[in-house]
Amino acid sequence: MTFWFFKKSKKNEAKYRLTTDIHSHILPSLDDGAKSLGESIAMLKAMQELGYEKIVATPHIMADVYKNTPAKIKKSLALLQKEAKLRGLKIKIEAAAEYYLDDGFLEHLESGDILTFGENYLLFESSFSHKPYYLEDMIFEIQANGYTPVFAHPERYRYISNPAKEYATLKNIGVLFQMNLNSLAGAYGKESKHKAEYLVNNGLVDFVGSDAHGLRHIEGLKEVRRLDIYNSIFKKNRVLNNLKG
Ligand SMILES: [Fe+2]
Repeated sequence: MTFWFFKKSKKNEAKYRLTTDIHSHILPSLDDGAKSLGESIAMLKAMQELGYEKIVATPHIMADVYKNTPAKIKKSLALLQKEAKLRGLKIKIEAAAEYYLDDGFLEHLESGDILTFGENYLLFESSFSHKPYYLEDMIFEIQANGYTPVFAHPERYRYISNPAKEYATLKNIGVLFQMNLNSLAGAYGKESKHKAEYLVNNGLVDFVGSDAHGLRHIEGLKEVRRLDIYNSIFKKNRVLNNLKG
């Protein structure tokens, strides 16, 4: 039995070495992610053990709920970097943000004080239930300000009722897609799982992310790596995760 299991694991072992995670809530006490510095360190350690070399922290920025600013995020990042170094962790930590498309978002854009990752990639999300009527306008504004819009977990929006058509529309206006790896294991329900499989099988994935809010999401990644579809992510898509620098 042991031998059978070993063979199965070998067969499903990923050939692509995913070394960078670009979506996580690992900074302590800024949103619904890590609640303490200790939890952040435990998460970092778990990511490092999975082979990650770099993690981009992306705290929520959402009017009235998570009033994070780039200054606040950078301060928290410096604190975590210092603690990680003290603990001897090698994994690199950077910070961007996950911007919620609300009324305050345009103000952030206009201020020019925006946190991005890689080559000016701006990670954004929207309501899960209702399509913002200004979605395309916001995307245009992101691009007009010199950023590339990256839609966080497009498989999770319930308002997307015709994935083939709606994903194509967003792609055609230059939106990149970041899929949550845990969606493939059904962590967010059946509908998200099916939409994630659609994204993978149709080459629509530009980035993958842990969207780790706690250790449970990092544990989930181990299961995802054993799925047959895991290798298809990298075979059928031009995944941009492993950023330079
Ligand atoms: Fe997130």
